[in-house]
Amino acid sequence: MKKILFVASEVVPFIKTGGLADVVGSLPKCFNKEYFDVRVIAPKYACMKQEYKDMMEYKTHFYMTLGWRRQYVGVLEAVLDGVTFYFIDNEYYFAGSKPYGNIYEDVEKFAFFSKAALSALPLVDFKPDIVHCHDWQTGLIPVFLKDKFHDGEFYRDMKSVMTIHNLKFQGVWDKKTIQDITGLPSSYFTPDKLTVYDDANYLKGGIVYADAVTTVSKTYAEEIKTPFYGEKLDGLMRARQNSLRGIVNGIDYEEYNPATDQFIYKNYTAKNFRKEKSKNKVGLQKELGLDVDEKKFMIGIVSRLTDQKGIDLIAYIMDELCQDEIQFVIVGTGEEQYENMFRHFDWKYNNKISANIYYSEAMSHKVYAGCDAFLMPSLFEPCGLSQLMSLRYGTVPIVRETGGLKDTVEPFNEFENTGTGFSFKNYNAHEMLGIIRYAEQVYYDRKREWNKIVDRAMAADFSWQSSANQYAEMYDWLVP
Ligand code: GLC
Repeated sequence: MKKILFVASEVVPFIKTGGLADVVGSLPKCFNKEYFDVRVIAPKYACMKQEYKDMMEYKTHFYMTLGWRRQYVGVLEAVLDGVTFYFIDNEYYFAGSKPYGNIYEDVEKFAFFSKAALSALPLVDFKPDIVHCHDWQTGLIPVFLKDKFHDGEFYRDMKSVMTIHNLKFQGVWDKKTIQDITGLPSSYFTPDKLTVYDDANYLKGGIVYADAVTTVSKTYAEEIKTPFYGEKLDGLMRARQNSLRGIVNGIDYEEYNPATDQFIYKNYTAKNFRKEKSKNKVGLQKELGLDVDEKKFMIGIVSRLTDQKGIDLIAYIMDELCQDEIQFVIVGTGEEQYENMFRHFDWKYNNKISANIYYSEAMSHKVYAGCDAFLMPSLFEPCGLSQLMSLRYGTVPIVRETGGLKDTVEPFNEFENTGTGFSFKNYNAHEMLGIIRYAEQVYYDRKREWNKIVDRAMAADFSWQSSANQYAEMYDWLVP
């Protein structure tokens, strides 16, 4: 039996700010339990909902040095769907109303978490063969494993995997401070190891020292070897390309299932969506105060409102798009300029646009179920999960051909009658508008073809199984 430990800064259902939490929460239960014991370790944040804190049970505590500091480490445990989750407790580091705040605090917080996660293992009697790290917050773990921990019998043979969910966030701060925080010798702070120019970089450390590196789609694995997507680490990605694989994410097919979803107005399946799906549109129109018309082409967005998601393109063509027979529903929060942009257009085209500047799981499910199309014109997208949810609900994705969007949405080909969505190549607002209007036209004038796209979208399979198998293969290759 192989033992795997996932280490991450967020995990569903306990705490979530983005897709990372979905992946870390849903992938572990998809491994064959006869061969793999996969557990998860994450921080216990003060901002977690009480119901989740109540699920945790105290296991042990100890004191740990971190550079010259000496800190309390509590260890808690919860078991959910047959998966064991450990939580690191420290009320100083994990206070506040959000998991992340200022980067200068976060670098110390996650140096602490990374060292504490490793240090807790002998005490909870779990000795993983592989420590699987996710994103910059855990980038120091492969470094620690090659450094101090290497001397201890317990850690010597432990392998590490670094998974990049988003190369843009690297955990960067000046190297003197990081040296002081981590207590790592100065020999680590050179350009071939942890630093980029004069800054220490956690993710870089993870990529340099991990035994294998993965990212969340094949296309993104190629893109990050180029300067445009490489975020200054493209040279390193090329240097490590033999250890780098792209494994596309899946989604939880139980949780996202239009046949059983408790959040939506009317359940439906691949067989009866032609009759039943639009009841969800009408429900949404009523709830959000839009014109009630089950025939109206409705486009949805559920997203963090950041430049990554291509919101600039949408802002640019919104006035033009609103001349068409469409409705537009937005759910999400993020940068203030984007929140206000959507509020403005909601005011200007009140019966067409509904800007919901908050995050709600229930509302997001209603959008996946109720809309005809789902727009995701990302500037870059390591994988993207909402387009997978849209496919599952027969809501046709309109995406830019980048990263995971390119790998998971097959563009409609009207001559061959293939494809599960619509896509465009360049980061150009009018190229996007052209594709949206093409989708509109197929929807209004060629309904049978549109419904065939929906058929194919709902038949696509992005459950975790095949991706979990690819991870399993990699684990077997690392630890034969
Ligand atoms: C990040 C990426 C997103 C990916 C998710 C999970 O949020 O931006 O593309 O789907 O991580 O891997």
